[in-house]
Amino acid sequence: MYRNHTCGEIRMENIGQEILLAGWVQRVRNLGGMTFIDLRDRYGLTQLVVDDHSSDEVKNIAATLGREFVLQTRGVVRERSSKNSKIPTGDVELQITELNVLNSSATPPFTIQDDTDGGDELRMKYRYLDLRRETVRRNLELRAKMAHVVRNYLDSNSFIETETPVLIKSTPEGARDFVVPSRMNPNQFYALPQSPQLFKQLLMVAGFDRYYQIVKCFRDEDLRADRQPEFTQIDCEMSYVHQEDVLNMFEGLTKNIFKEIKGIDIVDFPRMTFADAFEKYGNDKPDLRFGMMIHELTDLVKGKEFKLFDDAEYIGGICATGCSEYTRKQLDALTEFIKKPQIGGTGLVYARVNSDGSVKSSVDKFYAPEELQLWAGRLEAQPGDLLLILSGGKEKTLPVISSLRLEMGRQCGLMDKENFKPLWVVDFPLLEWNEETQRFFAMHHPFTSPKPQDIDLLDIDPGKVRANAYDLVINGVEIGGGSVRIFDSELQAKMFKILGFTKEAAEDQFGFLMNAFKFGAPPHAGIAFGFDRLVSMFAGLDSIRDVIAFPKNNSGRDVMNDSPSPIAQAQLDELYLKLVRAE
Ligand code: AMO
Repeated sequence: MYRNHTCGEIRMENIGQEILLAGWVQRVRNLGGMTFIDLRDRYGLTQLVVDDHSSDEVKNIAATLGREFVLQTRGVVRERSSKNSKIPTGDVELQITELNVLNSSATPPFTIQDDTDGGDELRMKYRYLDLRRETVRRNLELRAKMAHVVRNYLDSNSFIETETPVLIKSTPEGARDFVVPSRMNPNQFYALPQSPQLFKQLLMVAGFDRYYQIVKCFRDEDLRADRQPEFTQIDCEMSYVHQEDVLNMFEGLTKNIFKEIKGIDIVDFPRMTFADAFEKYGNDKPDLRFGMMIHELTDLVKGKEFKLFDDAEYIGGICATGCSEYTRKQLDALTEFIKKPQIGGTGLVYARVNSDGSVKSSVDKFYAPEELQLWAGRLEAQPGDLLLILSGGKEKTLPVISSLRLEMGRQCGLMDKENFKPLWVVDFPLLEWNEETQRFFAMHHPFTSPKPQDIDLLDIDPGKVRANAYDLVINGVEIGGGSVRIFDSELQAKMFKILGFTKEAAEDQFGFLMNAFKFGAPPHAGIAFGFDRLVSMFAGLDSIRDVIAFPKNNSGRDVMNDSPSPIAQAQLDELYLKLVRAE
């Protein structure tokens, strides 16, 4: 037996007991006649003591120990003379009688404790050592616990967990595919799934009725804090359901996870149309932890000789509560913020609502005091507030105001990570026009059903058609998305046509799905949650990397095993691949 206890469980009631432990050396302190060793395992830390009572053999071994050596030890639990209230085992220590070095360790490249001295890249390179740190491991433990809660909920609601293939057919919609060459089929390629979308729909045709899978998905897209090239979805599909049934089922799942993991009862679960979200928050994923809603001012501000506003299609603003005392420097910094290329703003007009209720703006010469009062009224401002106003084309300006709103939310401390505000965004547009390629793309995916009342518009004004598509948003993060599917092969064929597929191309790409739909496809709908995003939100983290055991860096590389990497010529030959020099 290597051990009969863990390093995290010994307490005062164990005093006098002889105990066997195994673990890693976190720290050795040699105080002349006494040596203290902090022994760590997954469960915690226990202090070991080597002193006058220990045998010479134990003393000799203790003198050779270094950080991260693997030990097995036997000893007797005793009360500590100086206690450590910061750790659960801090009242006791183990006076050791036996000490075996199970393995030595090279000096680790960074200290393996919560406040490590290791930088990001170094910790990624030695991820297995980083995972020894409690703060990092805890995130993975949370992930496992959340997956368990998800499985319990879906199992108890009759969902069948089904695996779908990882080597699939490449489809051009959505993000770029990762492709895999086939040795047995020269010059042909599989793709790794961006999601199991088609398979889960085929499982509905197969009569599975309710499917789920906690599944790896692969997308070759630019990476950000909330995106990894391989990530995990909680992927689900249901038959004989309307949108409402799906929303209720997954509202239930979301509430269940909050209750089981955080002990939080989510009461409010509002819904908002895409159109409202855009008008009031400037994006399709409103953060409802704070108000500061966007109000349009176009009708109030035009025609007063202020050219900037007179020339603008849209003028809108927000009211930053309690910010009327912002200094010139702070306001300039806000202007700089919105002018960043990734935000794309051009300028900012502001107005302070003074304590006496009067309003003082940066464009006072164009507007009379009573006109400024109307602005304050529209933005529901109180004395002490600051009005921030932007103008330009509507489609471009609203997202800039949205970024400014989020920045003000941050500056005003309104984005408490432990305050959770979920929301369904519904009625997304079915299609999105792409200027560059001069064609429509499916906003969600090509299998999403138009709203029945909008179907007639498909032939007249496709851009206006709304979809039975929905996103789950929590605290401004898109956690999940899904839709009611088209289950009629004719409507599906029409959709492919609108998306610019020729009959042949649609047949080639999706023929098997359209064929399947001829054999009695039931009405069906589904959703997928981004599991990494959900876990990182529960862990209070900003990046999903920290909830993935072995993540990629921002260039899509695994710096631990140094991949992607070249392959041998023989391997290339076998696959009929020829290298070309990269530009
Ligand atoms: P969608 O493309 O919206 O839908 O993806 C669902 C959810 O997956 C998460 N997500 C990601 N997480 C990390 N890294 C990424 N690169 C990444 N891309 C997406 C997001 C997103 O909301 N098949 C459909 C679902 C359906 O219709 O049922 C789909 O994949 O949280």
